[in-house]
Amino acid sequence: MKYLAYQLDKSLPQPLYLQLYQQIKNAIHQGKLTQGEALPSKRQLCDYLKISQNTVENSYAQLLAEGYIESKPRVGYFVSTQLLPPELSTNGVRHSLIKSNTKIWRYDFNPNVIDTQHFPFERWKKIQKRLFSKKYAHLLALGDRQGEEDLRIQIAEYLRSARGVECLPEQIVINAGIELCLIQLMLLWQHCYPQQQAHYAMEELGYWVVERLWQSYGQLVTKLPIDNQSLKIDLTELAKQEVDFVYITPSHQYPFGSVLTINERQRLLTWVNQQPQRYLIEDDYDSEFRYQGKPIPALKSLDQHDKVVYLGSFSKVMMPSIRVSFMVLPEKLLSYYQQHISFFHSSVSRVDQQILATFMQTGEFEKHINRMRKQYRRKMELLCQILKQYPHKIRFFGESSGFYLLIELLNETRTIVELTKLAEQQQIKVYPIDFHRRILFVLGFGNLREVELLTGLESLFDCWGIKKPTQ
Ligand SMILES: Cc1ncc(COP(=O)(O)O)c(C=O)c1O
Repeated sequence: MKYLAYQLDKSLPQPLYLQLYQQIKNAIHQGKLTQGEALPSKRQLCDYLKISQNTVENSYAQLLAEGYIESKPRVGYFVSTQLLPPELSTNGVRHSLIKSNTKIWRYDFNPNVIDTQHFPFERWKKIQKRLFSKKYAHLLALGDRQGEEDLRIQIAEYLRSARGVECLPEQIVINAGIELCLIQLMLLWQHCYPQQQAHYAMEELGYWVVERLWQSYGQLVTKLPIDNQSLKIDLTELAKQEVDFVYITPSHQYPFGSVLTINERQRLLTWVNQQPQRYLIEDDYDSEFRYQGKPIPALKSLDQHDKVVYLGSFSKVMMPSIRVSFMVLPEKLLSYYQQHISFFHSSVSRVDQQILATFMQTGEFEKHINRMRKQYRRKMELLCQILKQYPHKIRFFGESSGFYLLIELLNETRTIVELTKLAEQQQIKVYPIDFHRRILFVLGFGNLREVELLTGLESLFDCWGIKKPTQ
């Protein structure tokens, strides 16, 4: 029988019996008291701790009620349960299984982070403060299931002016992340064609979440290969398959940044129009940040037969944590949505939606995009300038848009794994791409300052032993 060093403090607002109960419970969780072990009798414990017998009785009663201990008549109290080993936390999550995200990188070339220094904190805070007041108490109640109408009106207007997409606010469904839009699309299609199993296709190397999501719902998924020369998806491959849904990023394909030409877009539209159950899912992620030429209108802007589901996101234009994404549904899918799955409540906070709607409606959004485009363009130009100094060793792709460049190391004998490890040894995080045995890395710069880009690349090339050519 153990007498553990329980520390009871009368000056605390928590009653003594609760303090004792909590400490015995913790001792069981931490493995200091194990299954079958006897607890001191009530009398022994109250003598030892100089507390009343009532206090011990109450603690033991609570532990009994929760099943931590059991009472054997005329024998005593015993620990009744073998709890999870000590490395398991109280909520049952094994600490060692939680992926450590805490590694500190000197330079992280993550392609999916935004420039946080230029976020309009003050303006955002001002709108938020105004909305968190009695005048807007209605925002505390649940809102429109498809998302706030004010925001859907702003999105429809933005799509018309910036992306050439004509749609009604009623066709828009706002969701927290494109994965929720994809889940709803899957359900909609099943309601439309209950007798059939949908066949999905997406670009090789396309957004991994989409593939994982479809696979985890047991859907049939085909990856459309990217041609090693044109660096675009092979549309002839698509024509050979009985596919129902194609997920595609026509204006900025990952990772090469390729853009589908008008001919390729027409081919896709012809393909989708051949069968009533077919749909294209256009993910227009990243389209706001184009640095060369005019913005490329969305594929949806050419969709005369209402066969394209448009997906948009505020993750890069504003911030990923706001979780405001949306889809524009073709009419047929919209009517199925309203009949069968409009039970989903909006997954995004009403207040956040209203802040964003106000930000857009007052013209701040447009100004913000223009300001950020300038910032990102400067970083992109700097990155290209640096890389151009190594033409014998480095080729790059995707300089016209987005927050990253794809670089290819030429005449390289080391493997991509070796090169990644070399960078990691210097606390530099790069993102390798596995494609036709080519040595490719994504270098994102969203949240790196210009000086960090310079020094980060210098350190990276140093550790890879890449030198400028001698004149
Ligand atoms: C192509 C693409 N679409 C969408 C997303 C994420 O969008 P959201 O944050 O709106 O879910 C990503 C994120 O990396 C992406 O790469």
